[in-house]
Amino acid sequence: MNRKQRRAQGKGKNPSGPSSRGPSDYHREQLLARALSHHQAGRLREAEQGYRDLLAIDPKHAGALCYLGLLAHQSGHSDDGIDLLKKAIAVDKRNPDLHYNLARMFADVGRDDEAILHNRKALELKPDYQEAHANLGGLLLLRGRMKEALAAVIRGLQLAESQSLRSTFVMLAQSIEPETADGEGEFTKFLTRALTEPWGRPRDLSGIGTAVLMRDATIARAIERVSATDDTQQLDELFSWEELARIGQQGLASALFTTSPITAIAIERVLTAARRSLLDQVIACKEGDESHQWLSFASTVALQCFINEYVFDVSDRENDLVSTLRGRIESRLEKDKEIDPLKVALLACYVPLHSVAGADRLAAHEWPQALRQVIVQQILNRQIEQGIRSEIETLSPVRDEVSGKVREQYEENPYPRWTSVAAHVQPIPVDMYLRNRFPGAPYRNLGDVPVSVLVAGCGTGMHAIQRARQFTRANVLAIDLSLSSLSFAIRKTRELGLSNMRYAQADILEFKSDTQFDIVDSSGVLHHLKCSRAGWRRLADLVRPGGLMHIGLYSSIARADINAARERFAKDGQSFSHAEIRRVRRQILNLSGEDRLSKVTQFSDFFSMSEFRDLLFHVQEHQFTIPELEEFIAEIGFTFVGFETPARNAYLKRFPDDPAAVNLRNWHTFETENPATFAQMYQFWIQKS
Ligand SMILES: C[S@@+](CC[C@H](N)C(=O)[O-])C[C@H]1O[C@@H](n2cnc3c(N)ncnc32)[C@H](O)[C@@H]1O
Repeated sequence: MNRKQRRAQGKGKNPSGPSSRGPSDYHREQLLARALSHHQAGRLREAEQGYRDLLAIDPKHAGALCYLGLLAHQSGHSDDGIDLLKKAIAVDKRNPDLHYNLARMFADVGRDDEAILHNRKALELKPDYQEAHANLGGLLLLRGRMKEALAAVIRGLQLAESQSLRSTFVMLAQSIEPETADGEGEFTKFLTRALTEPWGRPRDLSGIGTAVLMRDATIARAIERVSATDDTQQLDELFSWEELARIGQQGLASALFTTSPITAIAIERVLTAARRSLLDQVIACKEGDESHQWLSFASTVALQCFINEYVFDVSDRENDLVSTLRGRIESRLEKDKEIDPLKVALLACYVPLHSVAGADRLAAHEWPQALRQVIVQQILNRQIEQGIRSEIETLSPVRDEVSGKVREQYEENPYPRWTSVAAHVQPIPVDMYLRNRFPGAPYRNLGDVPVSVLVAGCGTGMHAIQRARQFTRANVLAIDLSLSSLSFAIRKTRELGLSNMRYAQADILEFKSDTQFDIVDSSGVLHHLKCSRAGWRRLADLVRPGGLMHIGLYSSIARADINAARERFAKDGQSFSHAEIRRVRRQILNLSGEDRLSKVTQFSDFFSMSEFRDLLFHVQEHQFTIPELEEFIAEIGFTFVGFETPARNAYLKRFPDDPAAVNLRNWHTFETENPATFAQMYQFWIQKS
């Protein structure tokens, strides 16, 4: 039953329509209300008896038919459920809830065409039916009918915006091609809102966002001019003031630049060229002569450069000019003299402002709004994190030599640098989450209990925060080696007002706990341990019997190009300065498209310092194959539940005899045939026997 029906039931309303009217109305309503309250409390046998009692008096009671159908569906008898819903509709054709519920059932059993049809019927009867819009959009998306899905979701957002529609929009935006989005004028408007409010994680929307942006006429012109220009071109020869003002002040461009690393080389080149030209211009100006028209644009670029941790290429000449600029600003700060905001914004495009001598004074100054955001990002947040750092508890020492080196890397480059997560998340029980994701998997319910979660190697907290928000009654303990990462995570957790999370410094290899956890989650971590299997075994011991692990590990098949690039550019175990890392990036950017190694630029990790460092220069990295995973999962006494991957549907088409998608030998074949399947790691759930 949907939320509205539950509300109606709460108010004693019977959604069943005509057949409930008559002299014994009151008695029927009583019977239905009683059966529903059993249903909601999970007393399914009593609920079923209640609906049957009512149907014995009134065989055409649409409400009783509907709820009995839902109950049959929930108990695994979907065919009976569907028949009962059809009977209810035969009694009450114009009831949108009945069509909606039937659509949900059809969707759950994979009869998508019928599900789409009944969703459309529900919407004909009730055009502002929020759940039906979201459901229809989601179904069309699953069927790959992108244009129709987009039209359905946009129409839904226009008529009846809801959280579930926003989430469907985010899912859709992640899989849609820019050409498909082009036809829908409202797409860019909703995408911009999805990035800034935000409706999902901005980094998940950055791919489509940049693709759409590159089709914007101003940006397309800038890309063309930058690709045809040399380094010495002046800013006003590259862009008009109006163009930069437009980029800096509003719209999709600024939403993208200020929320996650830009992942398109062409746009990176535009921003790099604009930054360089602006620097030339500002350095050439006399004190007080600077033009303020660039401030908004420069501040936007500064926000982007801090987010990507200054990964953009910098020439030696620029480095000299930046030193001059820094010197001028520091000297004026010391003498308490007026400082031009544009100069500060520009310096922030090259170095974080917290590294400037006298940063406190910069922060205390009154600045225009555009620059103020940069000050918050680069000085004030850092001060908060410094304060948090000394409060972090330590649960185990970091003694292992490799753990020490790994820690050092993440102290310097906490991973990943993120800005925001979805503003609203509707928590759901773990059982519902896993059953929806992995229908048919050999999964045993955890039950309706509070869930304790250990996130091992939480980094800067994005993933741990997601777990704390997505599961009902979750309590999360998140551990990591790196205090910089933990400080960032704790600041973000406080900003979001989450009280069900605790953070501590610990090495997985030494971490002990008096109690076991319902879930242990370790994504992108175990492959950085000296011995991944030792760490994995230790974490497995911390899972209670029947509990779950979510693991993320590198695939050696998916990372073949990365391995080749590492061979060429990096040397195992050798640390690299940021300047050297930029130099390697420049070399990769200059490779011809034919060169196999240029494929490295297809990884989103290429576009920020910490992620690129993680990608190519990690001090410790192991990789796995599916047969190795299978062997180890059996060895530690767990059962495979499922891979989290968008490739699931393609797998099901390739291996229709494995509808639960749990045969790891098949998965190995599938990966061999499609080597990029696990480019974002193997991400999977396993359950302890
Ligand atoms: C690539 S980051 C992944 C962060 C996070 N899990 C995510 O997916 O965003 C790896 C993290 O694992 C942590 N880590 C590596 N080895 C560890 C160990 N032995 N004990 C605890 N944390 C570790 C690092 O400090 C780093 O923050």
